Amino acid sequence: TASHGHGPFIAAIDQGTTSSRCIVFDKDGRIVSVDQKEHEQIFPKPGWVEHDAKEIWENVQQVVAGAVEKAGITAKDVKAIGITNQRETTLMWDKNTGEPVHNAIVWQDTRTDGLCRELGRNVGKDRFRRETGLPLASYFAGPKIRWLLDNVEGLRERAEAGDILFGTMDSWVIWNLTGGTEGGVHVTDVTNASRTLLMNLRKLEWDEKILHSIDIPAAVLPEIRSSAEVYGTAASGALAGVPVASALGDQQAALFGQTCYDKGEAKSTYGTGTFMLMNTGDEPVNSYNGLLTTVGYRIGDQAPVYALEGSIAVTGSLVQWMRDQMGLINSAAEIETLASTVEDNGGAYFVPAFSGLFAPYWRSDARGVIAGLTRYVTKAHIARAVLEATAWQTREITDAMTKDSGVDLTSLKVDGGMTSNNLLMQTISDFLDAPVVRPMVAETTCLGAAYAAGLAVGFWPDTDALRANWRRAAEWTPRMDAETRDREYKNWLKAVERTMGWID
Ligand code: G3P
Repeated sequence: TASHGHGPFIAAIDQGTTSSRCIVFDKDGRIVSVDQKEHEQIFPKPGWVEHDAKEIWENVQQVVAGAVEKAGITAKDVKAIGITNQRETTLMWDKNTGEPVHNAIVWQDTRTDGLCRELGRNVGKDRFRRETGLPLASYFAGPKIRWLLDNVEGLRERAEAGDILFGTMDSWVIWNLTGGTEGGVHVTDVTNASRTLLMNLRKLEWDEKILHSIDIPAAVLPEIRSSAEVYGTAASGALAGVPVASALGDQQAALFGQTCYDKGEAKSTYGTGTFMLMNTGDEPVNSYNGLLTTVGYRIGDQAPVYALEGSIAVTGSLVQWMRDQMGLINSAAEIETLASTVEDNGGAYFVPAFSGLFAPYWRSDARGVIAGLTRYVTKAHIARAVLEATAWQTREITDAMTKDSGVDLTSLKVDGGMTSNNLLMQTISDFLDAPVVRPMVAETTCLGAAYAAGLAVGFWPDTDALRANWRRAAEWTPRMDAETRDREYKNWLKAVERTMGWID
């Protein structure tokens, strides 16, 4: 909480996979205050991951109040609220009572694996790629909606009668924030909609043919809006009366917060998972190398900006797993200390295919392995293999990005919680053989949502003003020799092979 003058301010709410947070920003894009709260991760069966949506909404209200209080301001000082969120996580609720019909099904959940294979039968997993930019995979929201309709008793009838709303977490937060059962607006933005497998990427509308194929009634769907416009006004809470003026999936928000406004600019965000997005301008670019085509952002009625995305399901969550499930470390930060006690991985490679493999493989049938074990290996080597897993997966998606875009990577802009891990950042630079740079504000997800909301209400004039706020804070440059890098990459790829085909 540095000196921040007298405002006015923009507040951003980030409803993430492990926590919800609210950050208040000033006009220079500097952080004035932060409040954050974790929510429970529910694992009912192997491969299943759920969240309690009521707990999440409670937490969102608390962190908004907390951030406003810590900043020592009132709603009057805040010009707009921006929303950003974990993407794809799927919720359905009763619009008359506001009650969820089931826990939210989290993006990491693989229960729709069989359904996706069924939908791709005889046609392959690229059945809807031309329209949506996405392969058929359990990651996306559409199949999760279908699962709820098939498995929650009586839900399909209630949905067809118009009593049920579907939303990703942006929609759930905005609906509640703008009044819930008392007039809440049921909307989503183009970036979140582009992760459902149900939206046509060029028209930015729900695709009727796909809705029919997956068997989802259009009545449950929110209205698709741009990423930066006023959707409504906060009806209650610490920011009552403030316009709700942006929504972006968290990865797109980070792209926006990193000011990647030109074609060819890219960022990689290290959170629960890791997601690299490259701005491809006003045309959606098809991937032939296992990346996703997605909407980057759309400001009001301007042309939409598209992106190529490399998604990695498990990075920060592997460190959490080491802490919570394995008990090998006491805090997430300890992974670096432990890994630093050894020179190398001792021959061990850890491929955390806990949710199958995402980019560039899209194999829902993969499950995690630790390969190369001998009696020599200690927990410190495993810690090192954990960090290397994030770095190798980054290398795999940057390779795909280079092939798809024809643009060579000259440096990588990074952000997110894991960027405070120096050993990891150095390892990424070593494995990519390219510099890695981090901006002053590593909270680019919230910053991007704040920027979009600020543009919508005229708090900032244009993207040039935002670009002026970007400042480099740290840089790592490669130190590894080519021979070591190539040998290690080969071993990593061998370990990846061993994860595939585990689930028949
Ligand atoms: O697609 C999933 C992504 O949006 C989750 O991001 O930062 O909550 O892991 P994060």
